[in-house]
Amino acid sequence: MKKINADFFNKSLISIDQFSKKDIGIIFKTAEKMEKIINKKQQSNLLKGFVVVQLFYQPSTRTFTSFLAAAKWLGAMTIPLHGMASYSSAVKGESLADTIRTVHQTTAADLIVLRHPDDNSAQTASRASYVPIINAGSGKKEHPTQAILDFYTIKKELKRTTNLKVVFLGDLKYGRTIKSLGKLLSLVDKNLELFLVSPKILKMPQSLIKKWRKRGVKISQTEKLNQVLAKTDVLYVTRVQKEWFKNKKEYQKVAGSYLIDKKTIKKAKRKMIVMHPLPRVGEIAPETDQDQRAAYFRQMRNGLYIRMALLKLILIKKQ
Ligand code: CP
Repeated sequence: MKKINADFFNKSLISIDQFSKKDIGIIFKTAEKMEKIINKKQQSNLLKGFVVVQLFYQPSTRTFTSFLAAAKWLGAMTIPLHGMASYSSAVKGESLADTIRTVHQTTAADLIVLRHPDDNSAQTASRASYVPIINAGSGKKEHPTQAILDFYTIKKELKRTTNLKVVFLGDLKYGRTIKSLGKLLSLVDKNLELFLVSPKILKMPQSLIKKWRKRGVKISQTEKLNQVLAKTDVLYVTRVQKEWFKNKKEYQKVAGSYLIDKKTIKKAKRKMIVMHPLPRVGEIAPETDQDQRAAYFRQMRNGLYIRMALLKLILIKKQ
């Protein structure tokens, strides 16, 4: 896995571990320019002649549509392939490596955006690929573009990026977004305080907690949100991920562990935000949407800007 080192050109984006603080700053500056393209409603032809392929082996609404729109807003040719797990030759047993090489040959792809259930899929794909791979969510471990858009959201909403007190709530065992975001926040905020709130069986893996503590992050774990909510700047809520449970009865036991509603939000600070990578399946009541602190719909729009920025940085060589 190549480090970015302020040069994104032709590199695959596999993990947050590739990025430095400076790299994140470059993405944010580029994303701000991308916001202007969208606000002016003027499609760019910056990526005219480039081919962007999306290979999605797992369901997606936000990541899929925002990558598709990002490529189109910048003038690229797009080849959006949903349902790869059911409708491609993967069903006949074709390996991911062969599929990646095949798609490059059949489409003349310049870049492939991949979502896949295996933890190491993006790494495997990038080794096999002739062109850069962007990890759009791999297994239970990484969702780097989500983490970058999440951090961009925190910066825009709170107007600061340090001394943050952040709650990760819900499924910390299977959720990939909070693992990538934890990596990113521990890189950029030396005074970060993390409150990990989950049922006992859905705790954050100890290996990650150890790594973040080594970076100086203050971390506490609890099952009770009300112990930490009042001091929180960012309440990052996640869905309990039914698809990863082998035992559905285990899922039922923890599915409704938390509910963010008007009553909960009353106990939070006036200046804080509620985030969620979405989809939600009952952990945030719709009545919460009316509260200005509910940032989860604004958060999604930031995904468009960040993904436009990443496509530009990877495909266009710096002059
Ligand atoms: N946040 C996120 O990854 O959503 P989708 O699964 O809908 O892409």
